[in-house]
Amino acid sequence: MLKAQVCVIDFGSQYSQLLVRKTRELGFSCEITSPSSFSLDKSAHKAVILSGGPDSVLKISREEKDLYFNILDELKEEKIPTLGVCFGFQLLSLYYGGVVEKGIFGEYGQTRVFKEKSEVAYTWPESFDVWMSHFDHVVKIPKGTKSILKTAGGVIAALKFDDANILALQFHPEVHHTAHGSEILLSFYEEVAQIKKDWSISNLQETILNDLPDLEGKKVLCAFSGGIDSFVAAALLSKKLSKDDLYCIYINNGLMRPQDERHIEELKRESNLNIEIIDASDRFLNGLEGVFDPEKKRKIIGKLFIDCFEERSNEIEKEKNINFHYLLQGTLYPDVIESHSPHSSGGKSSTIKSHHNVGGLPEKMKLKLLEPLRFLFKDEVRLLGENLGLHHHWIYRHPFPGPGLAVRILGSINREDLEIARLADEVLFSELKNHNLYQMTWQALAVLLPIHSVGVKGDERVYEKVICIRAVSSVDGMTADATDFPSSFLKAVSSRMTAEIKGIVRVVYDLSSKPPATIEWE
Ligand code: XMP
Repeated sequence: MLKAQVCVIDFGSQYSQLLVRKTRELGFSCEITSPSSFSLDKSAHKAVILSGGPDSVLKISREEKDLYFNILDELKEEKIPTLGVCFGFQLLSLYYGGVVEKGIFGEYGQTRVFKEKSEVAYTWPESFDVWMSHFDHVVKIPKGTKSILKTAGGVIAALKFDDANILALQFHPEVHHTAHGSEILLSFYEEVAQIKKDWSISNLQETILNDLPDLEGKKVLCAFSGGIDSFVAAALLSKKLSKDDLYCIYINNGLMRPQDERHIEELKRESNLNIEIIDASDRFLNGLEGVFDPEKKRKIIGKLFIDCFEERSNEIEKEKNINFHYLLQGTLYPDVIESHSPHSSGGKSSTIKSHHNVGGLPEKMKLKLLEPLRFLFKDEVRLLGENLGLHHHWIYRHPFPGPGLAVRILGSINREDLEIARLADEVLFSELKNHNLYQMTWQALAVLLPIHSVGVKGDERVYEKVICIRAVSSVDGMTADATDFPSSFLKAVSSRMTAEIKGIVRVVYDLSSKPPATIEWE
C-alpha cells in the first residue's frame, strides 16, 4: 500500500491539491483527505498540514468545531508536527487559545511580509511577497507562540509555537505568487517536522508494481485512448504482464484528428503493447446525426463507446476462449479526490459537462478495477512515463477530450464539417511546430463555429464559416488563461486556414479565461 508521511487535511481551499504536489516535488510522500475521513496512521504519518478553506473559523457549526478540535486533540497528543495554512492557521490559533476576529477588509492577492526581530532560525529573507486570501485574522496570539512574520499593516502572517512542533502561516506557501514558498515548506519539513525525503519517481514505480494484486495467469483489458493516462498505465502493467495478457482496445469513434490517428498507429507499431484498433466511425457518426445539444452528444458518445467496447471484449473472450479478470483504467488522483471529498468542487458543484472517459464500464462489465495511477497527478504520470523509457513526444502531447471533435464542431455534426475541423487542426499544429510554440501552450484547439460570415475570395463575394482558435496556459485544466501568442503566429494560422480550407473565410482568437469560459466550447 502506498503510504504517505505527510497528510494534508483539506478544508476546501482551491489550493489544497497544490500543497500535495509541492510537497511531493520537494521529495516527501504526501496524501490528502477531508476532515471527516481523516484517520491518523501512526505508522505512516509524520506531519500534517491543515489547509486553507472558504469557511470562517468564527462561523463553523458546533459539529464541525468538535470534529476539527478532536483532530487537533489527537495531533497534540501524538505530537504530530503540524503546519496550518490560512484557515488552518486560524484554527490552530483558536484551538490554542488565541483570538481570531473578522477583519473590516479582507486581504487578497500579493502582500509583503516582514520578519519580526531576528530570532527565527529559518533562512527566510527579511521581507518577501506572499499570497493572501483571507478575511479573518488573529488579533491575539496563543500563549507559547511567537509572531514571526507581519504585514506592513501589522497583521500577523506567521506563528511559531515555542514548544510544540507547529508552524502556522496566514498566507499560502503553495501558490507560485508566494516568493520562497518552497523554501518555507521545506523549513517546515526539515526544521520543524525533521522528516526525511522519501518520494522519487523510481521508488514510486516499484511501490506501485509491488502493490498490484497477483496477476499470474490473469487477463487484463484496457480501454486505450492513446492519451497519456491509459498509455502510461498500460506501459506500467506491461512490466508485469506478457503482451498476450494485456489487451488494449482502441475505439476509433470517427471524431479523432489526423494527428491522433497517426499517434495511435505509431504506438501500435512501436510501443510493445498489444493494441487493437476498432473502426466504429460510422456507428458514432450515424448516432450523432441531427443532434445539436452538447450534453446529448456527450451522452450518445459515452454510451456507444461502452457498447462497442463491451461487444468487442465479449468477442475476444469467445475467439480466444479466455475470461478477462481486470479492467485497467488510467484514473488519476484528482479524480479520486473529487469523488471522495465533500469539500471538493466535484462534491458540491453541479455538472458542467459530463466528461466522457470510460465511466460506466466497470459496473456494466462486472470486472475488477486496476487503477495503478490513482495516487498520481498528471505531471507525475509524465515523469513515470519518462522513467518507463517512453518517448518524450508520446507523453508530452496536449490533452485531447474523449468526445474528440464532436465538442469542437458546435451543433450537429456532418462529415463535411468534420473534414474542415480536421484540416484546421492540421494547420494549427503544423504552424505551432513551425513557430516552435507547441510547448508554450498547455492545450491548443480549433473550433468550427456554426455561423457564416461575408468575405471576398478572388473577385467574388463569399459567405462562409468561421474557425476559432483557442489556446490556454494552465497547470491542470481546472483554471486557464488564454496563451499570449505572437501575432505573427496567429496571422500565419489565419492566412493558411482561409487559403487552404474550403469553406472558411474568417479566423478568430478566443481570449477568455477559465472560469468563466471552459476550455472546450461544448
Ligand atoms: P473543459 O472544457 O471542461 O476542459 O474546461 C478541461 C480539460 O478537459 C478536457 N475535456 C475532456 N477530457 N473527456 C476527456 O477525457 C471529456 O469528455 C472531456 N471534456 C473536456 C479538455 O480538453 C481540457 O483539457
